[in-house]
Amino acid sequence: MISVRTLCKRHGARAVLEQVSADVERGETIAIVGPSGGGKSTLLRCLNYLETFDEGEIRIAGTTLVPRMSRGDVRLRELRTRVGMVFQQFNLFPHLTALDNITLAPRVVRGIERARAEERARELLDKVHLGDRAGAFPHELSGGQQQRVAIARALAQEPEVMLFDEPTSALDPEMRDEVMEVIRDLAKGGMTMLVVTHEMQFASDIASRVWVIDQGGIAEDGAPARVIEEPRTEVAREFFGRLRRR
Ligand SMILES: Nc1ncnc2c1ncn2[C@@H]1O[C@H](COP(=O)(O)OP(=O)(O)OP(=O)(O)O)[C@@H](O)[C@H]1O
Ligand SMILES: [Mg+2]
Repeated sequence: MISVRTLCKRHGARAVLEQVSADVERGETIAIVGPSGGGKSTLLRCLNYLETFDEGEIRIAGTTLVPRMSRGDVRLRELRTRVGMVFQQFNLFPHLTALDNITLAPRVVRGIERARAEERARELLDKVHLGDRAGAFPHELSGGQQQRVAIARALAQEPEVMLFDEPTSALDPEMRDEVMEVIRDLAKGGMTMLVVTHEMQFASDIASRVWVIDQGGIAEDGAPARVIEEPRTEVAREFFGRLRRR
């Protein structure tokens, strides 16, 4: 489903991703962890082409991405419907209801008629346990509820891959569980996902593999139990040690 080959990304003289290569099979969930500034967000942003890159190639859900594609490239339009992304900040449209946040892209980007888009949006709201909040505006929802609307909005594009960048980090602890529950259900349903998270229990519950990303590379890649309990690199040992002491 995802194949990354010798991906390089620089900011000025500084390498942010260096020769990253990795493969993800359909239905896998990868938990991505590692120290701040290691390149986790940058990798996800390259996979979704929110940022271009300098060298290498990404194949994701049947779309091939190369450096410096133009904004109007048809492959990027394809990509938007095949890959969904959810950020730490929910970024809902503040002036639209939950329902309209979800139906906007399907109606505008894919030309789906309102009645059908709304029917699908209500199914998605049920799936994220917000079936009764379709008419609510973002400011009327809790952080956890807003994040679940953001997940439903991404799912409305019927993506084959979902990317999550610290989806629970902006939430109070009591709201994290309800968001993790929704992501866990997606994993069970066979969605292919990359999830940047610092919640190690969650990571080992849902992930088929854990990647430790440091200094622009994948320092460790293995089963959760192996990587978390018996890290092979100094950076991973330190990272998990720090989490345990917190
Ligand atoms: N626009 C930019 N210009 C210059 N450097 C950048 C830019 N965006 C990111 N970087 C640098 O790229 C590196 C990787 O950043 P990235 O946000 O991918 O890290 P991260 O692993 O997601 O960190 P965190 O855990 O703090 O979210 C950092 O050193 C950062 O300073
Ligand atoms: Mg980040």
